[in-house]
Amino acid sequence: MSRLIVMPDADPSTVLVDTTEVSAIAASLDSIGVVFERWVANAQIGADADQDAVIAAYAESVDRIKAQGFSTVDVVRMAGDPSDEAFVVRAAEARAKFLAEHTHDDDEVRFFVEGSGAFYLRADGKVHVVVCTEGDYIFVPKDTRHWFDMGTSPRFTAIRFFAIPEGWVGRFTGDDIASGFATYDELVGAGS
Ligand SMILES: [Fe+2]
Repeated sequence: MSRLIVMPDADPSTVLVDTTEVSAIAASLDSIGVVFERWVANAQIGADADQDAVIAAYAESVDRIKAQGFSTVDVVRMAGDPSDEAFVVRAAEARAKFLAEHTHDDDEVRFFVEGSGAFYLRADGKVHVVVCTEGDYIFVPKDTRHWFDMGTSPRFTAIRFFAIPEGWVGRFTGDDIASGFATYDELVGAGS
């Protein structure tokens, strides 16, 4: 279930907002320039579906976002058996990549086709934690301080949209704020 938790950025133990109500999530995120929408995610995606098949399944929505200037689209898919050591290593590497606070020169635009992951968005002296699940579309403006936690047993498929693909490089702020906040596993449960 989609969920938003808001805390002061200097006090992760104080919960200001904790809601699963979509309109409340969207309104709160709108106040920091982030777009959050629920799309119908009813396409059947096979376990072995490749990037083209995933994009084709959501062609109408993908075309709508591309028309807004996001000309490049790809699919990121994380899934595997937690007892498979190779997957555990790959998952840990993927998770570590964006687990520290960073920004991008491009907007971060994602649609979750299945599974889930948590964005931590820092703005206005607060951290907005958005647990995105199947059907969630999120637009994070460029230069927004944030990090992303997919959990230790990641499972998600997301369509990514890029206006300037070369702009999607993490610029790490060097602030270790992320280490003070609850992880995806702590919020959602490992392997959920
Ligand atoms: Fe990012």
